[in-house]
Amino acid sequence: MPATTLEDQITKYLTDAHSIEEQALAQMERAPAMAGDPELGRIYAQHRTETREHEQDVRAELHRRGAEPSTVKDVAGKVGGWGMVLFARLNPDTPGKLAVHAYSYEHMELAAYELLRRMAQRAGDERVVELAQRIGAQERAMADRIAERWDGAVDASLREKAPDDLGKEVVKYLRDAHALEGQALQLLEAGPKLAEVPELASVFEEHLTQTREHQRLVDERLSQLGSGPARFQAGALRVGALNLGTFFKLQPDTPVKLAGFAFAFEALEAGAYEMLARTADRAGDAQTAELALRIGAEERAAAEKVSSTWDAAVDAMARERVGA
Ligand SMILES: [Fe+2]
Ligand SMILES: [Fe+2]
Ligand SMILES: [Fe+2]
Repeated sequence: MPATTLEDQITKYLTDAHSIEEQALAQMERAPAMAGDPELGRIYAQHRTETREHEQDVRAELHRRGAEPSTVKDVAGKVGGWGMVLFARLNPDTPGKLAVHAYSYEHMELAAYELLRRMAQRAGDERVVELAQRIGAQERAMADRIAERWDGAVDASLREKAPDDLGKEVVKYLRDAHALEGQALQLLEAGPKLAEVPELASVFEEHLTQTREHQRLVDERLSQLGSGPARFQAGALRVGALNLGTFFKLQPDTPVKLAGFAFAFEALEAGAYEMLARTADRAGDAQTAELALRIGAEERAAAEKVSSTWDAAVDAMARERVGA
């Protein structure tokens, strides 16, 4: 493989960031109309404006570097390794799903810019450092704003449901949680790619044990409620429908992307448990609510731990790929 410079790597990551923003924009164009909650609607509309600026700023930086935004039509082909991008196309059909998807997508964007910033720092590229810092801060703020509105999202999603149906909604969310934990297991077993970043490998190993326990607890709760994991039907978040199959075919191609992607995936799980906890609470199911809060906290902690490996991941990339 020809040696590439760190600057070339940065240009590649900027191209990915541009595709990520294009998909974000497609999602943010639709989001305000289906927010189901006035405050969420306002938040999405505000971020639509920010996202337009992100797309333009990243494109301008690509031009400065004599590069062009990727013209590949196929989104999957464009953003190799950033599988979460496919989420932007899912077209979530309830305010709750939309909020969870948007929350995890913002985490993916945040990861992409945090990793880009670290690369640019190592290359001494101040302009890209500034760009990544500025946009990353807006992605983080957007994720935080969504997290302040889980109640609004749940209420909007449940508005149409009869009180008797709330129990069924809890089961749907539990089934989704079960499916998500299954996907998490696949992700966390991505061992070989982690070899060059031992910090990340050990975070994955630790969370793998937790994840098995999460799935067991969710399974147990489903049987207590007289139900089982969904085999065929899609649950409330439709991870079943997505099947994450395509998604995992696009296995992140570097430990750096794997570290970014895992961060977003943990955020997806955290968001799903926030919805489950609140739905269970409204259904008067305190036991499920408590379980969801407890697991959700572990997902958030796992996301934080993953993000603590980003320096090591970028260092490994700089060493291996660039020979720096
Ligand atoms: Fe953005
Ligand atoms: Fe964003
Ligand atoms: Fe997890």
